[in-house]
Amino acid sequence: MDKIATLKLPDGKTIELPGMSGTLGPDVYDVRSLYGKTGVFTYDPGFMSTAACTSDITYIDGDAGILLYRGYPIEQLAEKCDYLEVCYLLLNGELPNKAQKVDFDFTVTRHTMVHEQLSRFYQGFRRDSHPMAVLLGVVGAMAAFYHDSLDINNPEHRKVSAFRLIAKLPTIVAMSYKYSIGQPFMYPRNDLSYAANFMHMMFGVPAEDYKVNPVLVRAMDRIFTLHADHEQNASTSTVRLSGSSGANPFACIAAGIATLWGPAHGGANEAALNMLEEIGDVSKVGAFIKDVKDKNSGAKLMGFGHRVYKNYDPRAKLMRETCHEVLGELGLKNDKILALAMALEKIALEDDYFVSRKLYPNVDFYSGIVQRALGIPVSMFTCIFALARTVGWISQWTEMISDPGMKIGRPRQLYTGAGRRDVPAIINRS
Ligand code: SDX
Repeated sequence: MDKIATLKLPDGKTIELPGMSGTLGPDVYDVRSLYGKTGVFTYDPGFMSTAACTSDITYIDGDAGILLYRGYPIEQLAEKCDYLEVCYLLLNGELPNKAQKVDFDFTVTRHTMVHEQLSRFYQGFRRDSHPMAVLLGVVGAMAAFYHDSLDINNPEHRKVSAFRLIAKLPTIVAMSYKYSIGQPFMYPRNDLSYAANFMHMMFGVPAEDYKVNPVLVRAMDRIFTLHADHEQNASTSTVRLSGSSGANPFACIAAGIATLWGPAHGGANEAALNMLEEIGDVSKVGAFIKDVKDKNSGAKLMGFGHRVYKNYDPRAKLMRETCHEVLGELGLKNDKILALAMALEKIALEDDYFVSRKLYPNVDFYSGIVQRALGIPVSMFTCIFALARTVGWISQWTEMISDPGMKIGRPRQLYTGAGRRDVPAIINRS
């Protein structure tokens, strides 16, 4: 690439913008000096053309439908690794060897219990609260318990916080579910794998041993891997922005959870399943697609479209495979919702309205169907997404905090409000 771009402004000013290339993907032009030298800002609401940071963690090629965690293709990681190996990779930059894996798994396993008083927070919520509201509150409250790991400038504190978050999110999420159905909390079990332990805490009861189904546990583990990280998406950007002010990691992750809740982001899997259930039958797909094309209807094809992927989301392909595996294992091959999803996908992939807008299924389209088959209620889907994404958030946060050049994020604006004016006395106001 040409390393220098020259910007010529209408008033004749010119400024040279140095170019930068990464390992893969689009180059960037560094505009940090633009305002200082010209008095003008760049304008990019929604960050359609803005790289907010450098990162070594995740690479996405939206046109080619490629997703790499630390250089490894998601397809290979989903096939050859379990979620905790992926956590180690995202946090440390390399896959663990056997000894490192044993040590990492041991440490995570022994951080899965939460402070006994944390469980009292749940009593303050209505039983019918949305689990994301509960999760948001309880994760934020972790900062009130773990005072010994709040110094973000201490690498040891950062490491302990990462372990606590990765290890305790499953416990906190499962407790949110148990509370909502009035069942007793299940304590974690150290003899179970990460995914099996989560399913035990979600579906086990004190009255009997929980029977682990390896096929379903593998599917759960794969769902975690597919959701672990995804570059500078909205919630990760929130975590980075929160972290840039020096906020503690628990507060930053709570901020990420809040952002993920939105139906345009992590809430899409819940919205996608609700959409499928609302359509109800393959015979109604045509009418629904018609509504989606009518901008005035406000209907969207939830689980379709992506800011970056203008091709099939590689995670959606893997999720569809898992969907067939799980439904096959459960004898639900003829599941009505799956049939409806596949019919909707087929129509959308052939319909020019969607093809011309490069709207393909994203990770959320099939993940809801798999989770529903696993017995996870729709309201819990985004909590599971938050659980899985916590490692991505804390890895991105750690990368940023460890950078000595880190500065607080403080975007500017194009002001379009009233010019300066004096305050009239109240009797003179219309
Ligand atoms: C996630 O960023 C990430 O990486 C996120 C994520 C992650 O792992 O962190 O991948 C997880 O959030 C996946 C996305 C889940 N969201 C949904 O499935 C909700 C439905 N999708 C849309 O809301 C939308 O596609 C977005 C928000 C995902 C992306 O929106 P963009 O990039 O801002 O695109 P856009 O809104 O400008 O849409 C372009 C066109 C528009 O039509 P025109 O104005 O050009 O006529 O496509 C249309 C939109 O109306 N469009 C859709 C659509 N998504 C976009 N039309 C119908 N159904 C949809 N789903």
